[in-house]
Amino acid sequence: MQPRDKKKLAASAALQYLEDDMLVGIGTGSTVEEFLLAIKERGLRLRGAVSSSRATSDRLRALGIEEFALNDVGDLPLYVDGADEATPQGALIKGGGAALTREKVVAAASARFVCIIDDSKLVDVLGRFPLPVEVIPMARSYVARRLVGLGGQPVWREGVVTDNGNVILDVHNLRIVDPRSLEQEIDRIAGVVTVGLFAHRGADEILVGGEQGVRRILP
Ligand code: 5RP
Repeated sequence: MQPRDKKKLAASAALQYLEDDMLVGIGTGSTVEEFLLAIKERGLRLRGAVSSSRATSDRLRALGIEEFALNDVGDLPLYVDGADEATPQGALIKGGGAALTREKVVAAASARFVCIIDDSKLVDVLGRFPLPVEVIPMARSYVARRLVGLGGQPVWREGVVTDNGNVILDVHNLRIVDPRSLEQEIDRIAGVVTVGLFAHRGADEILVGGEQGVRRILP
């Protein structure tokens, strides 16, 4: 089975959390695309969605799902998003698609965060996937030096500008045994907008698509 098929399985399983007329927070990435396609295929009628990126807004528009601004709607009942890595405890690495800041905001504003992944992303210790950090452009080099001080090897994702006009440093060689404290530590570096560690507000449920179907993890 291809990773895309496993993503599809997890995405379809997340449909069970949707209710008619619901307003849903929508993440970014290929697994989320499968989720949006599944919503359309099943003919589900949402009130609309709050988007986490320009890319997702484009998809919503193409599929005829109405988009609402977070500022206009207040808190949300549900946020559905993928991840680059996830632990069974619900801590995540996100930001492979450079959408981590808006993803973190929409996740924070949502009562329930359902994470949909294929089984290659489930790990015991985060860090094999380079940790994305969104940084304001003039602070790139300073933040990179601080990240080296924390034991990582930051690599500038050249050519990528986030939806917020910032840059991304991908931090290699971290073995993240305490995601909550590392999240806090990186957040404290001046110039960091968002670290792609989602530990303080991690996933409430993880749906893992694999050869045997979908496994549901409740951290
Ligand atoms: C985007 C993200 C995505 O959720 C993450 O990169 C997973 O993407 P995909 O579903 O395409 O594997 O964090 O910023």
